[in-house]
Amino acid sequence: MQEPSPSTPSILLVGASRGLGYAMAQEFLQRGWSVVGTVRAGARTLLHDLADASQGRLAVEVVDITEARQLVDLRTRLSSRRFDILFVNAGTANRNQDETIAEVSTEEFVHVMVTNALSPMRAIETLQELVTEKGLIGIMSSGQGSVSNNVHGGHEVYRGTKAALNTYMRSYAARQAKSGRALLLLAPGWIRTGLGGPDAPLTTERAIPDIVGAVIAQQGKPGLQYLDRMGKTVPW
Ligand SMILES: NC(=O)c1ccc[n+]([C@@H]2O[C@H](COP(=O)([O-])OP(=O)(O)OC[C@H]3O[C@@H](n4cnc5c(N)ncnc54)[C@H](OP(=O)(O)O)[C@@H]3O)[C@@H](O)[C@H]2O)c1
Repeated sequence: MQEPSPSTPSILLVGASRGLGYAMAQEFLQRGWSVVGTVRAGARTLLHDLADASQGRLAVEVVDITEARQLVDLRTRLSSRRFDILFVNAGTANRNQDETIAEVSTEEFVHVMVTNALSPMRAIETLQELVTEKGLIGIMSSGQGSVSNNVHGGHEVYRGTKAALNTYMRSYAARQAKSGRALLLLAPGWIRTGLGGPDAPLTTERAIPDIVGAVIAQQGKPGLQYLDRMGKTVPW
C-alpha cells in the first residue's frame, strides 16, 4: 500500500470482511479516507476485491481479535503508521439467540463473551499507540448493551456480552481520563447482515452513512460516549 498523504484522514477498521465492517470500509473510502481493514486469515473476502479497486487507499491486514499474539503482530506490522481512528467492529452472536443464559452451553457462552467483550478491549489496549494523540478509539457495541433499556429481555447471551463490553470500556475510559482522545461505543441499530438476520428493518445501504457520520462527528471530543447511529446518547 502506498503511504497516504499526511492530510488524508485514516482509519484502522478491525473486522471488515463482510457485514457492517465491510460496508464501513466502503463508506470511508467513498469519503476520501485511507483505510486499513482487517480480515481473519484464510479465504479471500469482498474486502480484498475492494482493496484491488481502491488505487492503494485500502489495505487488507489479517487479525483474529481472540488471538492476543496476532494483535501484537498487527501492531508491529503497522508501527510506522498513525491513524486518526481505530474502530473495532468485529463481533459475534450465539447461534440460537432465543436461548436463555441458563440454556447456552458454557463453551458457546465463553466464545461469545471472549469475542465481544474481552477481545475488543484487548484490541484497543494493544493497538492504541497507533492512534494519534487526539484521535478516536471506537468499538461497535449494540443498543442491547444498555442495562437500563433491558426491560423486555431477549437475546440474553449476546446482550450480556455487549453490556460487559460497555462496562469494560467505561473502566478503560476512567483510566484514560486525561487523554485527549475521543472514545466511542456505537449502537448501530438492527441491520440486515449475517448477524442481524433477514428480518432486520435496516439495510446496510440505509444505515452505514449514518454510522460512519456518527463516528466521524465524534472526532475531537475527548471522553467516552455511548451513541446510536444518529449521534443520540444511549442510556447505560
Ligand atoms: N447487524 C446488527 O443488527 C447489529 C446490531 C448491533 C450491533 N451489531 C454489531 O456490529 C458488529 C458487526 O456485526 P455484523 O452485523 O456486521 O455481523 P457479521 O455480518 O456477522 O460480521 C461480523 C464481522 O466480525 C468479524 N469477526 C468475528 N469474529 C472475529 C474475530 N474473532 N476476529 C476478527 N474478526 C472477527 C467477522 O469476520 P469473519 O468474516 O472472519 O467471520 C465479520 O467481519 C458486531 O460487533 C455486532 O455485534 C450488529
